[in-house]
Amino acid sequence: MAKSIRIPIEQLSEGMTLGDDVVNSNGLILIPKNTVIHQKHIFRLKLYDILSVIILDLPVTDYYPEAIRQPHANIHIERTDLPFLEFQNNYAIKETQIKHHLESISNGEPVQIDELLDISYSLLEQLKTKSNLFNYLHDIKTTDDYTFSHSINVSLLSNIFAHWLQLTHKEIEEITLAGLLHDLGKTKISLELLNKPGKLTDEEFASIKKHSQYGFELIKDQTIPYDVKMGVLMHHEKLNGSGYPLGIKDEYIHPYAKIISIVDIYDAMTSTRSYHEKACPFKVIHMFEYESYGLLDTSMLFVFLANIAHNYLGRVVRLSSGDEGKIIFIHNTSPSKPIIEVGEKILDLAVLPHLSIEEILY
Ligand SMILES: [Fe+2]
Ligand SMILES: [Fe+2]
Repeated sequence: MAKSIRIPIEQLSEGMTLGDDVVNSNGLILIPKNTVIHQKHIFRLKLYDILSVIILDLPVTDYYPEAIRQPHANIHIERTDLPFLEFQNNYAIKETQIKHHLESISNGEPVQIDELLDISYSLLEQLKTKSNLFNYLHDIKTTDDYTFSHSINVSLLSNIFAHWLQLTHKEIEEITLAGLLHDLGKTKISLELLNKPGKLTDEEFASIKKHSQYGFELIKDQTIPYDVKMGVLMHHEKLNGSGYPLGIKDEYIHPYAKIISIVDIYDAMTSTRSYHEKACPFKVIHMFEYESYGLLDTSMLFVFLANIAHNYLGRVVRLSSGDEGKIIFIHNTSPSKPIIEVGEKILDLAVLPHLSIEEILY
């Protein structure tokens, strides 16, 4: 009999087996015991803010069926194009700057709004088109300190998302700042705890969950816009009231927090993390479409998903049937299921539920 151990979801990999049911705050089973973990399960855990799971403690080689261990689709090709390399260089500099800013705010120093905004805006200015960001972030190499690169990503993605939502210039600037600060409270939690391998106590998990409140406390008396503070405080709230720290519902959640919570999960699923391979964007869009009901703001979410999908118009993809074809039309109401041209045939994935996009080829 394999023994069971509790691990934080950052250490969860595809191929591991659940040693116990994962339940939500109402006791409903989200993922049953003995499930072999796939990307969609990691997405669901992230969406429900589950911080740890119990897995069967099998030898590492048993975690991965051959197909997952050697995914031909995930061979990483190093990028050498100049605009990307310049972006990556600047990104590395900005990572050091955001670390410095968040740590000094954590030590009681004032928030330097202009300097902070410059971190995001200087990176955004380097992009030829805003949609370039999505493939840059997909390919970029970051340092090990996830909190800092994640803060930059959430800020950049929130800025673009706010443009898509047609917010005002002032609102876009505020949401860009809120994105940089959203996980500020993590600086109050020791790195040792954030990266601790193996079993964590209930108190340790409770303390990680306090980061949105800690972040709010660090800025609540600072001279920055009220809405930015709300974005930081509420970024883990969920529409049905199952979130934290307040457990408030839809109409009470600040729109900035709703934007950040969508982007937060998107970044966790698409950037390089140790616990999963980077996902095909259409798979991530599909997971959002089917799993987020009652948790994320759907009217905002669909604007985000449709715009991301539009970036891939004209690209050649491989379908679950093995066929290759070109994306020729994106439906705004089901962006994960575009119309594909395969040779002479036109396939509308929206009415072909058994077919899906497996991989973007070129
Ligand atoms: Fe957070
Ligand atoms: Fe976050």
